[in-house]
Amino acid sequence: MAGDRENAFALRGRIAHFLGDPGMSPENLVYFEDGVLVVEDGKILLCDDARSLAGAGFDLAQCEWLPNQLILPGFIDTHVHSPQIDVIASYGTQLLDWLNDYTFPAESRYAQRSFAEASANDFLDYTLSVGTTTSFVYTTSYKQSTEALFEAALAKDMRLVAGKILMDQNALPELQDTAASGYQDSVDLINEWHGKGRLGYAVTPRFSGTSSVEQLTLAGQLLKEFPDVWMQTHMSENLEEIRWLKTVHPHTADYLDSYEQYGLNTDRSIFGHCIHLSDDEILRLAGSGGRVAFCPTSNLFLGSGLMPLEKLKKAGVPVSIATDVGGGTSLSMLTTLGEAYKVCQMQGYSLHPLEAFYMMTLGNAKATHLDHCIGNFERGKEADIVVLDNKPTPMMARRITQCRELDEELFVYMMMGDDRSVARTYCHGVQQYDKGENN
Ligand code: GUN
Ligand code: ZN
Repeated sequence: MAGDRENAFALRGRIAHFLGDPGMSPENLVYFEDGVLVVEDGKILLCDDARSLAGAGFDLAQCEWLPNQLILPGFIDTHVHSPQIDVIASYGTQLLDWLNDYTFPAESRYAQRSFAEASANDFLDYTLSVGTTTSFVYTTSYKQSTEALFEAALAKDMRLVAGKILMDQNALPELQDTAASGYQDSVDLINEWHGKGRLGYAVTPRFSGTSSVEQLTLAGQLLKEFPDVWMQTHMSENLEEIRWLKTVHPHTADYLDSYEQYGLNTDRSIFGHCIHLSDDEILRLAGSGGRVAFCPTSNLFLGSGLMPLEKLKKAGVPVSIATDVGGGTSLSMLTTLGEAYKVCQMQGYSLHPLEAFYMMTLGNAKATHLDHCIGNFERGKEADIVVLDNKPTPMMARRITQCRELDEELFVYMMMGDDRSVARTYCHGVQQYDKGENN
């Protein structure tokens, strides 16, 4: 039954996770055809081969056996907008018009606390139903929408990093904060929520175009005052946006400079998109350790362009993968991997399924400095677990039956999978989603 806490339990089935980048060494993939995962007090106690455990005296009868399923670490989404569950699939515009026509009006509804609370809960339930156990979330410029999301995530014991949007210009008047109020709201939210349960705070200037110099300066000050919070924003997503930005901040050399000047390019900064960076910006990002969130469904939907994943990785920029709902068209990280594959194919690079599954688990954990507590099944990590159903539809069952190797099967999940593929989701050792109960 979803939501009940058991102090200890064991799952038996096919288990896969990564100890590092499988592109560096094949040994970084751990796969048990018949494995056991033991969870105690919300943490991973043991992950090993069933036969060798039985040989050492472990009683396999205490395990719940999931013979047709594949057990993986919980998925991590490094860039998503919780209020945009109401704008997903809005027709016919590119970034700047999409923001003005659809997104800002939808976000203005979050001024109402009761609406923000109900929507926060729905958003988290949707993410659990697609196997996502950790998200980096943009809420709205209303402080209470961030409080509502933190409260809901705390109740589900999810690992979640979020921030109130800083936006003091170039948006609907009712959505604008001021440099001073945005700073003070952020301080209050950090003091109240950062480090509570499994929650964290990200200072969140929406993008430099909607923040004044004064606001960007105060955002940089927040990072100095609270060095272990994150910073998240958007950068270099759309060509018209880049031209517009030059008119808003004419004193900056390029897009990255509009963050660098204010101390916002650090190794705890996560820049969404980064499709059209110059070689010099890429070099500077690699030098500072700034991180990129690759959002393929959004980049295709908004017609923004093809993110050069291979080029950024070769340059030494840590790249994570994310949905960016509601520019993105699905909360499912499986669907997101499938679209990432297509974006890379268009550039002559075939994203390997092991690289893709590594990215959305341990890779995303490393890119966000969370690999000490999540991302794989090493002993002592928080037990965030996804159980994938290998027969979610007759056609997927048919296709998967023909797979001889794990990577072939993973490729089918990433090209055809979505919420239907997720049988169960556990957060911190507690089952929070069960497809059987929700059908
Ligand atoms: N740039 C500034 N705000 C947004 C947003 O909400 N979504 C996307 N995709 N890009 C942005
Ligand atoms: Zn975004």
